[in-house]
Amino acid sequence: MTDRYAVIGNPIAHSKSPQIHKMFAEQTGQDISYEAILAPLDGFAAKIDELRKAGYKGCNVTVPFKFEASNLVNEISTDALDALDSGPNADAVNTLIFRKGMIIGHNTDGMGLVRDITHNLHFGITKKRILLMGAGGAAYGVLHPLLNEHPSELVIANRTLDKALQFKKEVESEAQFSMTSISASNYPDLSGKQFDIVINATSAGLTDSEIPLPPTIFAPGALAYDMMYGRETPFMKFAKEHGARAVDGLGMLVEQAAESFYIWRGVRPETAPVIAALRKQQ
Ligand code: ATR
Repeated sequence: MTDRYAVIGNPIAHSKSPQIHKMFAEQTGQDISYEAILAPLDGFAAKIDELRKAGYKGCNVTVPFKFEASNLVNEISTDALDALDSGPNADAVNTLIFRKGMIIGHNTDGMGLVRDITHNLHFGITKKRILLMGAGGAAYGVLHPLLNEHPSELVIANRTLDKALQFKKEVESEAQFSMTSISASNYPDLSGKQFDIVINATSAGLTDSEIPLPPTIFAPGALAYDMMYGRETPFMKFAKEHGARAVDGLGMLVEQAAESFYIWRGVRPETAPVIAALRKQQ
């Protein structure tokens, strides 16, 4: 019998996840179906309940339900809490497994970003200086996995400084990250600083807004990574103009999907042919 999976979000029509998981299934010979499902903004929990009753094996969760999904996991079963990744990452969930009346949650976004940077782009994170822009849900999901790679420095920059300071407070208490110097900043105070990897986890690209970065922010050979995909954002254009290698988030999208697929099926799909196929469509 075909095992059923889905991605749930609002909006969801433009999700590439069904196409990605179809390619993974074909490649690995796994008998699964995967569809995109729209949940009303106030109807996420009810939709999950519906899917579980219909026998779905799991689902991905996307904007705006990632935080709500983690609450659902916590409420359904205390056992499920043990299955959650520890650390701040546990507060945003993008992958659910429905198993024996329990919902188990994971977040594969951060791992997807790290894997795209290190494995696909062959760019080391360890001992590098990282600037993470944004202090919303997208930035939150990648914070912990980035720190796990032990960069020498992590600066969290945000328009609203308070939110960046809050992020800093949450991660700096974890002794294991002591080899990384962590700080929070607003954009004007970045003046005079340079970074090897600059990651855009803000939603500025959605509105084609510029982020007020100093043009000297990119160290020689720097990587400028935009977690958005599908088109060149003002940040990517700016980075190219100032000597950085600019990359969009398509690789991250495919890598986080591969990690979800692995969690569900125990088989790791090849991501390179899937990234190449999606690039051709762009
Ligand atoms: P997401 O889930 O995509 O992270 P979010 O939680 O609403 O969305 O967070 C959006 C992030 O993008 C925030 O860090 C926001 O900065 P503020 O906290 O100061 O609002 C950032 N952002 C959005 N538009 C921006 C812009 N034009 N310039 C700089 N940062 C921007």
